[in-house]
Amino acid sequence: MSRRSVIVGTGSALPANRVTNAQLAERGVDTTDEWIVERTGITARHFAGDGETTATMATEAATKALAAAGVAADQVGLIVLATATPDQTFPASATRVQTALGINDCIAFDVQAVCTGFLYALSVADNMVKGGMADQALVIGSETFSRILDFEDRTTCVLFGDGAGALLLQAQDTEDRGVLATRLHADGRHNDLLYVDGGVSTTGTIGKLRMKGKEVFRHAVTNLADVLNEVLTASGHQPGEVDWVVPHQANKRIIDATAKKLGLDPNRVVVTVDQHANTSAASVPLALDVAVRDGRVKKNDLIVLEAMGGGFTWGAAVVRY
Ligand code: UT7
Repeated sequence: MSRRSVIVGTGSALPANRVTNAQLAERGVDTTDEWIVERTGITARHFAGDGETTATMATEAATKALAAAGVAADQVGLIVLATATPDQTFPASATRVQTALGINDCIAFDVQAVCTGFLYALSVADNMVKGGMADQALVIGSETFSRILDFEDRTTCVLFGDGAGALLLQAQDTEDRGVLATRLHADGRHNDLLYVDGGVSTTGTIGKLRMKGKEVFRHAVTNLADVLNEVLTASGHQPGEVDWVVPHQANKRIIDATAKKLGLDPNRVVVTVDQHANTSAASVPLALDVAVRDGRVKKNDLIVLEAMGGGFTWGAAVVRY
């Protein structure tokens, strides 16, 4: 028996405003539903409205995760929020979530690794829980990418959406449940393939998202297959033992190609990119919550989570749910 971080609740939140591909075209984006579906698998995304922010969506997702676990907010000792689109430059949006949940004292901070942010946050929280810093930890991914999209750039604005996902980790003495292994990577040489052209200490502006999609695509499949192999080996499991793959939801073609490369059963891959588009750090916990709530993911299932994004950063985790 050893002290491990077990997922005891999940939750998610989406803005009310759902925008289909056809609606984007009607609003003046030079695109078609056919192109977006064929190249990405995306049919719709949600965009935050007035008053909906990274912290408000994160709070809603966290509240649902706590309710699912039957744990009171004041039991939470740690909040790690993954986001590249915080409410303010500082303080951390995690502290806004903390206050909104009515928690007066706990550890709370943001993690920024763009689309891989949730995997980074999960790994950090897992190690802090295992190390005894907290017994209950909220790990959240929340993004409002609509605020950094250039709606004049059809090669990027059709790909992203807003949303949040959360899970509650609980320290338990267990043989084989919980987070079994995590692996993280970064290679900053690829900074200019996916970035925002503004920032606090450079332009003093928020900036807009820029991406060389084809190059990102090429790296994504290779990096994701490599890190999945690495994390499965670290956890002592084979691809054939995996019950569910919960991948980062950037493009259905990336998801399919990665699963194929590893020989993973496509029917065991959770896909939400069609409904949510790419919600960056929120995409993995959002997809996990969907699969938990519709009954696919069950207690003791072996799950792998993976993501890749700007930096480049990439990472994966193996969890016994
Ligand atoms: O979270 C991680 C970060 N993101 C990703 O992982 C995304 C990775 N990349 C991708 O998903 C794909 O590369 C894209 C979906 C971005 C693009 O797909 P693609 O098959 O690589 O298309 P492409 O960039 O080669 O573009 C093909 C054509 C171009 O026209 P020409 O030059 O062949 O005449 C584009 O101008 O499609 C055109 N195009 C569009 N047409 C209609 C690009 N965007 C659009 C659009 N609507 N929205």
